[in-house]
Amino acid sequence: VLGRTFHRAAGSFARPAAAAFSSSAQFKVCINGGAGGIGQPLTMLMAMNETVKEVSVQDVTMAAVPPSGVAADLGHLEFPSKVVGYATDPSVPAVEQLEACLTGCNLVLIPAGMPRKPGMTRDDLFNVNAGIAKGVVEACAKFCPDAVVGLIVNPVNSIVPAMAELYKKKGLDPLKIVGVTTLDIVRANKFVAEITGKSPKDIEVPVIGGHAGVTIMPVFSQDPISATISADKIPALDKRTQDGGTEVVEAKAGKGSATLSMAYSGARFGNKVLAGLAGTPTDECAYVASSVTELPYFSSKVTFGKTGVEKIHDIGTLNSYEQGRLKEAMDQLKTEIDKGLDYAKSNC
Ligand code: NAD
Ligand code: LMR
Repeated sequence: VLGRTFHRAAGSFARPAAAAFSSSAQFKVCINGGAGGIGQPLTMLMAMNETVKEVSVQDVTMAAVPPSGVAADLGHLEFPSKVVGYATDPSVPAVEQLEACLTGCNLVLIPAGMPRKPGMTRDDLFNVNAGIAKGVVEACAKFCPDAVVGLIVNPVNSIVPAMAELYKKKGLDPLKIVGVTTLDIVRANKFVAEITGKSPKDIEVPVIGGHAGVTIMPVFSQDPISATISADKIPALDKRTQDGGTEVVEAKAGKGSATLSMAYSGARFGNKVLAGLAGTPTDECAYVASSVTELPYFSSKVTFGKTGVEKIHDIGTLNSYEQGRLKEAMDQLKTEIDKGLDYAKSNC
């Protein structure tokens, strides 16, 4: 493989050598909400994975940029992937429109949905975004039931349980539904690098729990570099990681939430899933149906293998600060999981 590789992803972003140009490209990936703030750069990054042969970029007809335009633009990149745009009418059920873009997919990434504005919580997005997610996930159940479905749309803590229950009701594997919490890890790594002066590429802080407020639980004691930070600095670092999303929402002043760092993180996640599917088991913390705590959904380290989620790892050893945080995280997470389960009961 020629060129620079993207060290965080097991799949590489390097330009492929000529001999490898078509032979290793095997996967089809769909990005729903692909013309949006996250969707466009995420589609680009996935189109740059040399193991990807086709990327579907799907969005609604009134998207800011037509999906076919995003596809035409990305179709000129010097990578093996073919990029195809699909525009759908939001007044028609998604399941009636998504057959072509989803059929044959190995990985579906879903950043379709409303972002926060200053003053809002992620939970405030639930009513509108759960409906959008349901449309897409129902179509995944029908057209690519074996694909790994990475839910980026917020609130992840409630939408993932709702969609995993939808899969269960259809007799499908709920572990195909995965909440993407990678941005929390990326943030924790960067903030630790800033404090310690070390390279972020040598830091890998596990972030467990969920993806909102106190449920975002970085485990600084488990990374050799972050473990060297003095205990008095940890609460502020923890809080900054929890509030990373709000930091961006406020800085964007009503014009959206994290898009570029999320696209980077979504691609880091997506490339790891594809590496696993290709036969190289790869770890990433992710929010899934779980029995590592008494909660039915929880984010902890997951190994992605040939069929997707292969192993869900235990939390590991926590120090006393982290044990207190775990309790706090689980209390809030329980309420947010229950909201998703209630939604599934009456809507799925
Ligand atoms: P955006 O508004 O820029 O893009 C969303 C896109 O979804 C738009 O192009 C819109 O047309 C499209 N869309 C709406 N309904 C659709 C449907 N039924 N089918 C397909 N596409 C549809 O928003 P964004 O900044 O890209 O954020 C998207 C979502 O991701 C938000 O819910 C946001 O909160 C969430 N998010 C999650 C994380 C995370 O860490 N998991 C990080 C950042 C943002
Ligand atoms: C984030 O963490 O950046 C996302 O969940 C978006 C948000 O609303 O904060």
